Amino acid sequence: MNVLVVGAGGREHALCWKLNESERVDRILAAPGNGGTAREAENVAVRDDDIDGLIALAKAEQVGLVVVGPEAPLVAGLADALAAEGIPCFGPCAYAAQLEGSKAFAKDVMRAAGVPTAAYQVFDEPEAARAYIRQKGAPLVVKADGLAAGKGVVVAKTVDEALAAIDDMMVRKSFGAAGARVVVEEALSGEEASFLAFCDGEHYALLPSAQDHKAAYEGDTGPNTGGMGAYSPAPVLPQEKYAETAELCIRPILRHLAASGHPFKGVLYAGLMFTKDGPMVLEYNVRFGDPECQPLLMRLDSDLVEIMFACAEGRLTPDMVQVKPETAICVVLAAPGYPGSYPKGMEISGLDAIETGADKLPGVKVFQAGTKVEADRTVTSGGRVLGVTALGATLAEAKARAYEAVAKVGFEGCYFRRDIGDKGIARSGQ
Ligand code: AMP
Ligand code: GLY
Repeated sequence: MNVLVVGAGGREHALCWKLNESERVDRILAAPGNGGTAREAENVAVRDDDIDGLIALAKAEQVGLVVVGPEAPLVAGLADALAAEGIPCFGPCAYAAQLEGSKAFAKDVMRAAGVPTAAYQVFDEPEAARAYIRQKGAPLVVKADGLAAGKGVVVAKTVDEALAAIDDMMVRKSFGAAGARVVVEEALSGEEASFLAFCDGEHYALLPSAQDHKAAYEGDTGPNTGGMGAYSPAPVLPQEKYAETAELCIRPILRHLAASGHPFKGVLYAGLMFTKDGPMVLEYNVRFGDPECQPLLMRLDSDLVEIMFACAEGRLTPDMVQVKPETAICVVLAAPGYPGSYPKGMEISGLDAIETGADKLPGVKVFQAGTKVEADRTVTSGGRVLGVTALGATLAEAKARAYEAVAKVGFEGCYFRRDIGDKGIARSGQ
């Protein structure tokens, strides 16, 4: 069977790498892909937002399964368009994808489904939002309703900061149409974790817990990024809590969406905060997290194609998802300046030695994100460039191995956090 992976990040490199292990797969196509997917698959120059182009590609290459990495094509209706052509797709329909595409939709679904989440109100008019903010007082969280590349959330410590966020989103329209509506919600505090489940519309099969590191710099300081590293499992959400946590944040959503006639098929990602009153859902994503996907797929012991087909065909069982007992960690190497503006085109060194040569380390895989192949060189082409991922018996061991590998690859001005995994090590003691 031919499989088409849509997207161009580290997540998509990891997806191609894992799908390649399956005996059911003949060819993997990546659209548009990156320097890493070029090593596992055939890159095709079709953008991830070109729905007509992706459909034409899937038909021309007789693709038997389309795996959608990022959220934007799902929100734009790629899964629906593929369904209309009878092409199996891993990823939810546009209606269900609103869980990520509209924060107001997600909050309303959570409220209706009884999922614990911060108290909130939705606003279409800046004056009404300002009055609510003045009445509630700080701290508060202001969220642009639509997709804003991870930048549409302001955790405001003061009323003035919250009011400034309203001006920015609703008056100056910094996020365009995505900020025409906002959610204002109660600020929660606690440690965060990501909890992902494969879903077939009715049933779910859990992946182990993971933890992202959204801030650019060590100690969770600096601007928010797409994620500077991740590891799995996250000791803040231990295995003995998986079942009850899924009944709290996965099952009610599946039930609600199935009852509304739009069953959720794909990966449902709950962004959780463990507050003193128990776990609360901060957000849903409708796809694998990036970089959470990289350590999660390093740990996955089952055939990913089988799981994805079972999701598409509504016959998923929990035992289809088997996971290695080891811990996995991914450290992101970013371009200087990221998440602000950054240079591109720097040559990346050390990749071949780590993959196949003298420096090859056991249990290590370098996933590429913002890279491309130019002549015979792999050069940077994005902000998050590499995700150096390692397995270990403990988190501390995985961390040591990952940073040993990090020391062997790089490019001019590259930066990374040295404290990926430290919260988990502090909590678990190993
Ligand atoms: P979101 O895109 O909704 O996950 O928000 C991005 C980040 O903002 C989260 O990972 C949290 O760190 C923070 N955040 C979102 N909602 C809240 C909240 N209600 N209270 C405190 N922090 C929040
Ligand atoms: N790493 C967080 C996300 O993918 O949204």
